[in-house]
Amino acid sequence: MSLGTRTFLITGALGAVGVWTTRSLLERGHRVVAFDLGGDGHRMPLALDRDQMSTVTRVDGDITDLASVESAIRDHAVDGVIHLAALQVPFVRDNPPLGAQVNVSGTVNVFEAVRRHGLPGPLVYASSIAVYGPANSLSGDDQPQTLYGVFKRTNEATAHRYFEDLGVSSIGLRPHTVYGPGRDQGITSAPTAALLAAAARIPYRIAFGGRIQMQYAPDVGEAFARAALLSYEGASVHNLDGEVAAVADLPALILRALPEAAGLITVDETPLPLVASVDGESFVELLGGSVMRPVADGVRDALAQFEQHLASGLIMPPSPTSGI
Ligand SMILES: NC(=O)c1ccc[n+]([C@@H]2O[C@H](COP(=O)([O-])OP(=O)(O)OC[C@H]3O[C@@H](n4cnc5c(N)ncnc54)[C@H](O)[C@@H]3O)[C@@H](O)[C@H]2O)c1
Repeated sequence: MSLGTRTFLITGALGAVGVWTTRSLLERGHRVVAFDLGGDGHRMPLALDRDQMSTVTRVDGDITDLASVESAIRDHAVDGVIHLAALQVPFVRDNPPLGAQVNVSGTVNVFEAVRRHGLPGPLVYASSIAVYGPANSLSGDDQPQTLYGVFKRTNEATAHRYFEDLGVSSIGLRPHTVYGPGRDQGITSAPTAALLAAAARIPYRIAFGGRIQMQYAPDVGEAFARAALLSYEGASVHNLDGEVAAVADLPALILRALPEAAGLITVDETPLPLVASVDGESFVELLGGSVMRPVADGVRDALAQFEQHLASGLIMPPSPTSGI
């Protein structure tokens, strides 16, 4: 089924993944309604040019309020939804009840709004590799290592029931570590902070080690957009593919692209409580090929973009000791 030019509501559209997903849809001629809490939209110009930004319809709203999600769908003749809005690990840890309201109830609201308006599927939503337990499984005795992961696991079950009981088709995507322009909050934003620091020629220490699966933000946006454009019936969840890198290798990768960054970026040893890598094959099959570039290419591109944005004053250098 071809729907021609479509209008997508993206929740959390002003976030790191949201701005790049918006770009991928606009580049294909679709319209985007950016549903987010509001704020300065500082990530938009990192992904979109002036003309693209002027075409985006911004709706300030909160996904915990079902009526506002519904009116955004109705008022803007939305015919597809990509749900990215969420509180990340540190924010959920600091305020679990709010975390549950946004990440769990908010997700139910988005599914419910799609159901009530009979939108064509699939509803594409962001889950996370945080759903996996320490034994790298989803079994009941291998529980997620964060409340955030518990909430994301719940959302996957919600999506399953919304298809089985209520006929809402969905595709859940589980990123691991998104890096690149716009990735400026959440625990795994530290590799991006290191790239920005290198571009600014200041020291930065990544506060964890181990191995992570690195997914370049523009490619992650492309993955969400491509999934939303599929003709699909069912409820499935897929890990995103992407190259696995040792955090300890990042300084050398940065150095290869930017010799002037010698000695600036250092790395701790303690790994994060996250599975190091997951199998992204089912998503590659669903799309008919990978949209993820090699880490060395993403690192080079991010450094070039950061140098430009620092020079134009669009972004500021990170603090050497904390995330950006
Ligand atoms: N970034 C990663 O590495 C990563 C990894 C795994 C999963 N994810 C998931 O991908 C999605 C996007 O992540 P991101 O990196 O773009 O996050 P982000 O923090 O950059 O953006 C999240 C956006 O959601 C918005 N938001 C928060 N609460 C809201 C609410 N109640 N109503 C409306 N909007 C709200 C925020 O204002 C923000 O613009 C999230 O669901 C996240 O959990 C991200």
